[in-house]
Amino acid sequence: MKTKILEINPKRIDLAKIKIAAEEIKKGNLVAFPTETVYGLGADAFNEKAVAKIFQAKGRPFNDPLIAHIADIKELYRLSEQVSLVALKLAKAFWPGPLTLVLKKSELVSGIVTAGLDTVAIRMPEDNIALSLIGEAKTPIAAPSANLFGRISPTTAQHVADDLNGKIEMIIDGGKTKVGVESTVLDITIRPVQVLRAGGISVEKLKEVIGQVKISKELEEGFRSPGMLNSHYSPQAKLILVEKKGDTQVDEIRKLASKYKAQGFKVGIMAKEENQNKYNGLEVKVIGKGTELEICATNLFAVLRSFDKEEFKIIIAEGLEEHGLGLAIMERLRKASVPKYEC
Ligand code: TXA
Ligand code: MG
Repeated sequence: MKTKILEINPKRIDLAKIKIAAEEIKKGNLVAFPTETVYGLGADAFNEKAVAKIFQAKGRPFNDPLIAHIADIKELYRLSEQVSLVALKLAKAFWPGPLTLVLKKSELVSGIVTAGLDTVAIRMPEDNIALSLIGEAKTPIAAPSANLFGRISPTTAQHVADDLNGKIEMIIDGGKTKVGVESTVLDITIRPVQVLRAGGISVEKLKEVIGQVKISKELEEGFRSPGMLNSHYSPQAKLILVEKKGDTQVDEIRKLASKYKAQGFKVGIMAKEENQNKYNGLEVKVIGKGTELEICATNLFAVLRSFDKEEFKIIIAEGLEEHGLGLAIMERLRKASVPKYEC
């Protein structure tokens, strides 16, 4: 299959092009499209055959449920018959935007989207291309991140092409995504509501709107035992995360880097801007200033992918602060990392 690339300027949306892409969705084909978080791989959420193609193209197991993307709040009521006040409050505060709500699903939603669960994940993205595409397709669009399963989510159309070229009908190129990490996934079928995945809307912001918010056990345990979670968001290089602070962090990274370099590995360091000059003689890529976590989030996946492009074998990453978007960044780095002794 030849993958068509359709360039669309997000600031001046060409409706004729959106219509071409929407036709593909209506025909039951796959279209990768930008959202404000990462690129998604979309199919008509009400077409089971089309949704099945998503799993095939990504190599994703069928037991991992998808997010249904909507462009109009009315669609929320089609996908769920149990839209609580909490759901409406959160939707009002954060939609369109990087928050995914998990609600009880309606009968209309196929089990292939939800991996057989009785809940469905729903989000209204903020990106204008995404909103126009969903609106024009006149159906919710089921979409995971548009990367091969287990790999790093794409923040540019080129990243999507690197993983999925030849496997999908179309990629809409709308430039670099704004947020850079995926949406926050929030289970609102239970009280207190529970964060299943940290993401573009910080826990602090959620608390401002609904008070009590629990962090899921899996996430917390992941935080206590890095590297124990299923490998995810993984670069091809081995990633070692060094969580210490200040000079101790820099010292430990320097030690590790010399050890692996001496063994003949190509070693790269992902550092905060303020530390970039502390690694003389080593190859460093900057994620952003340690105080500007939103910018670090925007750069995270592109930096990790660039290490792979340049065939680094080991990436040693500086840990960041865990507030705001730092929590989402650290969750992803922990999932991507391997314990030191495995290198
Ligand atoms: O920002 C995003 O969320 C991007 C863009 C494309 O919207 N999408 C994305 O999709 O990251 P994906 O499939 O890569 O991640 C969706 C996450 C998975 O961790 C999945 O397990 C979870 O949402 N999820 C989906 N449906 C769920 C459900 N019913 N209950 C619990 N978790 C669910
Ligand atoms: Mg994903």
